[in-house]
Amino acid sequence: MTRVSVLFVFIILISGCNPSQPTFAKPKPLKTNKTLSTIAFGSCNKQYLPQPIWEFVTQNKPDLWIWLGDNIYGDTENMDTLKKKYDLQKSNQEYQKLIRTCPIIGIWDDHDYGTNDGDKNYPKKAESRDLMLDFLDVSKKAPIRKREGAYQAYTFGKKEKKVKVILLDGRYFRDELTKDNSKKKRYLPNETGDVLGETQWQWLADQLSDKSINLYLIGCGIQMIPKDHRFEKWANFPRARQRLFDLLQEKQPKGVILLSGDRHIAEISKIKLDGLPYDLYDITSSGLNRSWENIGEEFNQYRVDNKMIGQKNFGLLKIDWNAQPLKVKVEIRGLQNKLHFDQEIDF
Ligand SMILES: [Fe+2]
Repeated sequence: MTRVSVLFVFIILISGCNPSQPTFAKPKPLKTNKTLSTIAFGSCNKQYLPQPIWEFVTQNKPDLWIWLGDNIYGDTENMDTLKKKYDLQKSNQEYQKLIRTCPIIGIWDDHDYGTNDGDKNYPKKAESRDLMLDFLDVSKKAPIRKREGAYQAYTFGKKEKKVKVILLDGRYFRDELTKDNSKKKRYLPNETGDVLGETQWQWLADQLSDKSINLYLIGCGIQMIPKDHRFEKWANFPRARQRLFDLLQEKQPKGVILLSGDRHIAEISKIKLDGLPYDLYDITSSGLNRSWENIGEEFNQYRVDNKMIGQKNFGLLKIDWNAQPLKVKVEIRGLQNKLHFDQEIDF
């Protein structure tokens, strides 16, 4: 062995690392007793394109980042390829700065799941799920590793400042979309189909039963309130959408905000549910680096004050814990930290 190769082996031994494995920034640990005041979120991110938006996400010093799907564009059944794509994302220099400073959680949508508009029939869903959890640095001992699907819940804060983030898996158990053969619309409502699957529904009901929670955030890759556009949405499964609303009406959480991605736009939608003493908002932030710049007009009967953009964007929730009742300010921001629009939500 030459001197150089001895030195190389020595370096490998003392560093304890495998030279074939890329090294990533050490993630900021999730501290569940920490009070969350600023939460950032977003979706639709092509791993191989520049990602200047992270600088502006980081500028806001969020207490938590929530990925809302299409976190990378995987689109493959080859798990080696999918892992390489996740590794490319995780090695992005600007994203690494976020990893170091801000705890990260997330859920997938279709492209990171592995297939466009994918459903329960995607054959590599179990393997893909594990790769996503690895990307998110979810512990190998976490309970989610022992069950099917990617749904997760995290509780932060103490006493009167408790936030629970529920991340719904809208892919692993989701029934097939009904294609519109007349081509007038992309999809017709699947009147009997489901989005979550029975096990996830029961789990969600349990999660929403915690009366100590002051604010629930429910994230899902696809939009839950809008139903007018022709793309993917919970409204393609009307029974599931109504079941979600019925569950919220039944459980009466003190506060809840829906978060979604997928659409390459940002918009704010609102619905009034009977019996829920506040408006229910669906905040869509989509297009970290993959946005629909020339979208023009798009009808959404639930959109608030025409709050919709097609520029690159991320979302921020600023929780005012001193307000009585609780107040949350939603901001949709973009490059140069530009504020595109905001929304106050009172509970
Ligand atoms: Fe998507």
